[in-house]
Amino acid sequence: MQDEERLITTGFREEDGDAEQSLRPHSLGEYIGQDKLKKGLNVYMQAAIARHEPLDHMLLYGPPGLGKTTLAGIVAAEMGHNIRVTSGPAIERAGDLASILTNLNAGDVLFIDEIHRLSHAVEEVLYPAMEDYALDIIIGKGPAARSIRLDLPKFTLIGATTRAGMLSSPLRDRFGISFRLEMYTPEQLAVIVERSAKILKVECDHEGALEIASRSRGTPRIANRLIRRVRDFAEVRGDGKITLENARESLDILEIDELGLDNTDRTMLSVMIERFGGGPVGLDTLAATTGEDAATIEDVYEPYLLQLGFIMRTPRGRICTQAAYDHMNLPMPKPVENKQLRMDV
Ligand code: ADE
Repeated sequence: MQDEERLITTGFREEDGDAEQSLRPHSLGEYIGQDKLKKGLNVYMQAAIARHEPLDHMLLYGPPGLGKTTLAGIVAAEMGHNIRVTSGPAIERAGDLASILTNLNAGDVLFIDEIHRLSHAVEEVLYPAMEDYALDIIIGKGPAARSIRLDLPKFTLIGATTRAGMLSSPLRDRFGISFRLEMYTPEQLAVIVERSAKILKVECDHEGALEIASRSRGTPRIANRLIRRVRDFAEVRGDGKITLENARESLDILEIDELGLDNTDRTMLSVMIERFGGGPVGLDTLAATTGEDAATIEDVYEPYLLQLGFIMRTPRGRICTQAAYDHMNLPMPKPVENKQLRMDV
């Protein structure tokens, strides 16, 4: 199955569209979780406001769906400026970025999602823009070529990536602020579900919210998607109120288990256990055997399985842990004893 077809994909699905937008918090006070990040960010924003300066450029990294775009929107709102949202793959040529930069106003936030996917030529434009708020334009060709420097408005770049390791070091070094977003606990997600229920005008008791939260893989985007699906079941089969019983029943029907794993996760674990004796198995082998893309396995499936402690990465490949065997209801094979033949000499 393609990752974007999965109900529990952390990526953005078409159906999330306006709904995700309406459920987004607009201030740091409304934003739940990520407490360390919020504390730091609040100080940096207050300091920048007091100095009448834009906030320093900021890098947000961590698995998808944890609220990087939401945070960028909050920064713009709290600083009282506009946000321009784009992404690494969308900026194809250096000229595309130059046109975005020259259209910003002082204090604006430029949000670049998947910033690790910027081309080298585009990155080169970004360096003086970030460092000196300047755009270097080359006029002419060959020996007659000369460079002129245009001043840009003082803006804040917020870059987001699922893979901080893939950022080039000159780019990484130009961010004054850098935060890693952590997965949410079920309790934090339950608060988000209850908040979303209020906005969606659906009644949802705490146990129902916690059930949805527990099956949302630590990810608000999934929690906000699942509450809408559970609401459908509650409206069609009951009185519209979300409870523990109907949340459980509808998520079971959707084949999302009590830890939030779907059939694709379970297939991956069973392939690792049944075909490869629990590992170690290399990423490419796993990709070829399951028919999934290696990058998707690494970015999307693995972070949550690692977080659950179901798999471990070793230099020789991925291995399944006892917890994974327990969850899959399969016995863990006993380690083969390394019997050495002793010969008397
Ligand atoms: N919706 C998505 N992420 C959220 C968060 N961290 N807090 C509140 N609502 C959210």
